[in-house]
Amino acid sequence: MNTLIAVVLAYLLGSVSFAVVVSKLMGLSDPRTYGSKNPGATNVLRSGNKAAAILTLLGDAVKGWLAVWLAQRYAHAADLSEAGIALVGLAAFIGHLWPVFFRFIGGKGVATAAGVLIGIRWELGLGVLAVWLLVAFATRYSSLAALIAAASAPMIYGMVFGSDAVLLAIFIMSGLLIYRHHQNIANLMSGKESKIGSKKKA
Ligand code: G3P
Repeated sequence: MNTLIAVVLAYLLGSVSFAVVVSKLMGLSDPRTYGSKNPGATNVLRSGNKAAAILTLLGDAVKGWLAVWLAQRYAHAADLSEAGIALVGLAAFIGHLWPVFFRFIGGKGVATAAGVLIGIRWELGLGVLAVWLLVAFATRYSSLAALIAAASAPMIYGMVFGSDAVLLAIFIMSGLLIYRHHQNIANLMSGKESKIGSKKKA
């Protein structure tokens, strides 16, 4: 019962789309109307407003981290297992992808997944972040960096911490993230994917 309550609360927290909220508060266009139409930091950057993109990135990452941190903090009182905590992180991620507050039209989950991974094991989060940065700097493709980082997450966790329920949750999160990038994958393969920092197209 406690796990279910924690999962629902994490889902609600994950449902707060910072791309939409930050853009609205800063008087910018709704990111769901331009560029890739994705409510995420990469697309908000296409508005040309770097501060809005950074705030989106931080907000989306912190909500994932916070869900896991709160679950860990109250794990004893709420009788949450390690698998339950990972499920809470997954719920926050799913909230970002299919947010109840935005008619279930959400983002691709990169920043939120990073926050969840940092919450689960900060070493894992930093390792995956390093993969993202390496690919992003080398190719300037945010989506390619996210795809390779997502694929690396279960591999790194499995190699360092072994095979358990947390690995399953990370595997599902990575699978969903890759699935949400299907348009980016098609664009990358046809050479149409836009690079980091390119300006918005309506
Ligand atoms: O953070 C999502 C990123 O990987 C791709 O975003 O807007 O280029 O589809 P976008």
